[in-house]
Amino acid sequence: MQAAIKARSNAYAPYSNFLVGCALLLENGTIIHGNNQENAAYPSGLCAERVAIFAAGANYPGVSVVKMAITAGPVEGDFEEPVPPCGACRQSIAEYESRQSSPIELLFMGTSGKVARSKSLGDLLPLIFDRNYL
Ligand code: THU
Repeated sequence: MQAAIKARSNAYAPYSNFLVGCALLLENGTIIHGNNQENAAYPSGLCAERVAIFAAGANYPGVSVVKMAITAGPVEGDFEEPVPPCGACRQSIAEYESRQSSPIELLFMGTSGKVARSKSLGDLLPLIFDRNYL
């Protein structure tokens, strides 16, 4: 979570003013940072979680992701409620979980306060659409 807090400080979110930081721990001990990257053409931006997990897939193929930490909240003020990953990010993380055949633990928080945990992404996304349907 300390790595996610560091990643959040580099978020680029001038439109929403909602900063998200994400850190992945890989099985080889590497930590990958991600943060939301917004764009004047709004849908062209990307969430912190997908920036991080796609960076892992691009730079460390075949290395499993053990856990993901997320911290999120507005630029101004404190946000104490844990912020879970959006549906599109859950779908993307699910792909990695199934690809590596091992669970990815999630830890998520606001900017302070309690940290929520899930032992597996699958617990946050029942009835996953995956490659078996194709
Ligand atoms: N955002 C994330 O980075 N992760 C999520 O799971 C939800 C939303 C970003 C996208 C956008 O830059 C901002 O938060 C407001 O939606």
